[in-house]
Amino acid sequence: MQKQDFSFSFEVYDSIDELTEQDAWLLSEAREVTQHAYAPYSHFQVGAIARLDNGEIVAGSNQENASFPVGLCAERVLLASAASLFPKVPVDTIAISYHNELGESKHPISPCGMCRQSLLEYESRVDHPIRIILGGLEGKVYIIERASMLLPLSFTSHDLTA
Ligand code: THU
Repeated sequence: MQKQDFSFSFEVYDSIDELTEQDAWLLSEAREVTQHAYAPYSHFQVGAIARLDNGEIVAGSNQENASFPVGLCAERVLLASAASLFPKVPVDTIAISYHNELGESKHPISPCGMCRQSLLEYESRVDHPIRIILGGLEGKVYIIERASMLLPLSFTSHDLTA
């Protein structure tokens, strides 16, 4: 028997003020985009903004439904839009923020498991890592070098053919 370790590092900033101008702009846009969420059931509005390799900006926000499982997370709305509007163009960086109508928005949230799987697929389909910036409406900011780091021991297309 062997034990294997998995670890990854990410950057932690005290606030948006410590980011580069480009990253700060992206996060502030993600904060704005939370306002486009349709979240009458959870009252938890998530906004995501991507900068693509060709310089284009694509937004996503969570879109809920009275039939709860039908709802979509902001990240997957964004990825579907990016793939439809700019097929095959790599996504460079995604900033994700949220507005919790029932509580605070002072710490970063990270993508749910389903979105991690979608982010991983997007990285592999265009063969390009996706940087992730996470932050609330205020407070600390995390930067993760590539989305796939959030999903160790992942299931991928290789498993279907191996
Ligand atoms: N949500 C997202 O949009 N992204 C995440 O990564 C986590 C959760 C949404 C789904 C649902 O509309 C609401 O937040 C509460 O779970």
